[in-house]
Amino acid sequence: MLSKIRAKILSLKFKIIRRSVISIVASWPKDLERAIILGDSLNHILMSTPFKYFFKFKIPKNIHTELYDLIFPSPIIAASFKDDISSLVQWQLVGLGGITYKTVLKTPSDGNNRPRIQEIKYDGGYGLINSLGLPTKGVEYFVNNFENSKLLSFNRPIGISIGGNSIGEYLDVFNQVNSKVSQSIFDQFFYELNISCPNTDDGKCLSDDMKGLKTLLTKMRSSCSNVIVVKVSPDSSEQNMFEICDTLDTVGKCAINLGNTKYITATSVGLNKKTFSRDGGGLSGKGLFNITLKNVELIASNFDIPIIATGGISNYENVSLALKKGATLVGMASQLVIDPFQIPQINSKLSDEK
Ligand SMILES: Cc1cc2nc3c(=O)[nH]c(=O)nc-3n(C[C@H](O)[C@H](O)[C@H](O)COP(=O)(O)O)c2cc1C
Repeated sequence: MLSKIRAKILSLKFKIIRRSVISIVASWPKDLERAIILGDSLNHILMSTPFKYFFKFKIPKNIHTELYDLIFPSPIIAASFKDDISSLVQWQLVGLGGITYKTVLKTPSDGNNRPRIQEIKYDGGYGLINSLGLPTKGVEYFVNNFENSKLLSFNRPIGISIGGNSIGEYLDVFNQVNSKVSQSIFDQFFYELNISCPNTDDGKCLSDDMKGLKTLLTKMRSSCSNVIVVKVSPDSSEQNMFEICDTLDTVGKCAINLGNTKYITATSVGLNKKTFSRDGGGLSGKGLFNITLKNVELIASNFDIPIIATGGISNYENVSLALKKGATLVGMASQLVIDPFQIPQINSKLSDEK
C-alpha cells in the first residue's frame, strides 16, 4: 500500500519537474534534446547519491516471465533506445524486468543534425518523433564498457542491440561483442538485431534483404547459444513478418520484437525545417499501440515464436492486453521518459491480476 502511494507521488513529481525542464530549456528554439541532456545529467547526479534508494521498488514475485533460459522478474523491459547508464540503473531500480542497450554500430557516429527529436501530439495522444540516425560510440567503446557492474548487479537479462549498414558490419559488431560475451561471468545477455531503420539516408535495411538476414542469423547461431531477437518495423508487410518468423523458426531460440518506431513525415505533425532537420522520422508513443497489438495478434495466431510487444505501451491496460494477445514480454521506450514510476504501479496491478 505504502509503495503504491510512493509510486503515485513520485509519478506526479516527475511529470511536473519534466514539464518544467522542457518548458525552460527546450521550447525556444524548440529542441527536446536539450531537455534530455539536462535531465540525464540531473539523473546522473541523483543516481550517485544514496537518494537513489528512494526510487527502489520490489518486483512482486508472481509476475516473472521466462524467455527460453532467461528469467525476467517483470515482463516489462526497456526497449533499445538509451545507453546512459544512470537511466538504465534508475529503470531497473523502479522495477523493470530487464533492459536493452541502445543499438551499437561498428564505427562511432554523431547521427543526424539537430533538432532531431521533438514532442508531438499524435492521434490525440502524446508522442515523440525522432530522426537521431543511430548516434553511437561504436563497437570498440561498447565492448570495453557494456559489462557495467551497476547494471549487472541487478542480475536481470540485458539485451545488446546490433545494427549495421551491411551484413558484414552486423557480423563484425556481433563477433566483437560475442567474443566478450562468451567469456563473461554474467550469463544473461541476449542479442537483438535492429533490422529496421526509419532514419537512415537510403532507407535500405536488413529487413529488405531476407537472404542476408538468414545468412547473418545462421552465422550468429553457429557461434552462440544466446537468445536472438529480431526487431522489425511496424511498417513491415504481413508477408515480410511471416518470412522473418519462418527464418527465426529455423534458426532456433529466437524471438521477434514488434516493433520499432513508425515512419511519419515532419510536416504531418506540424514541424518544419527549423524544428526538425529532416523530412521525417520515427514515431513512438501511444499512437503506436493499436498497430503493435494488431501485429502481436497476427504473429501469435500464426507462429509459435516468443513475441516482445513494443510500441505505445504506456499503462497497465496496454501491458495486460499485449500479454493476453500472446506477447511474452513488453518493451517500453517513450513511457519511461514520460514517467518511469508507472512501472511499479503496473507491476503491482499485474501481480493483483494473477
Ligand atoms: C529517442 C529514441 C531512440 C531510439 N533508438 C533506438 C535504437 O537505437 N534501436 C532500436 O532498436 N530502437 C530504437 N528506438 C525505438 C524504441 O526502441 C521503440 O521500439 C519505439 O520507440 C516504440 O516504443 P515506444 O512507443 O514505447 O516508444 C528509439 C526510440 C526513441 C524514441
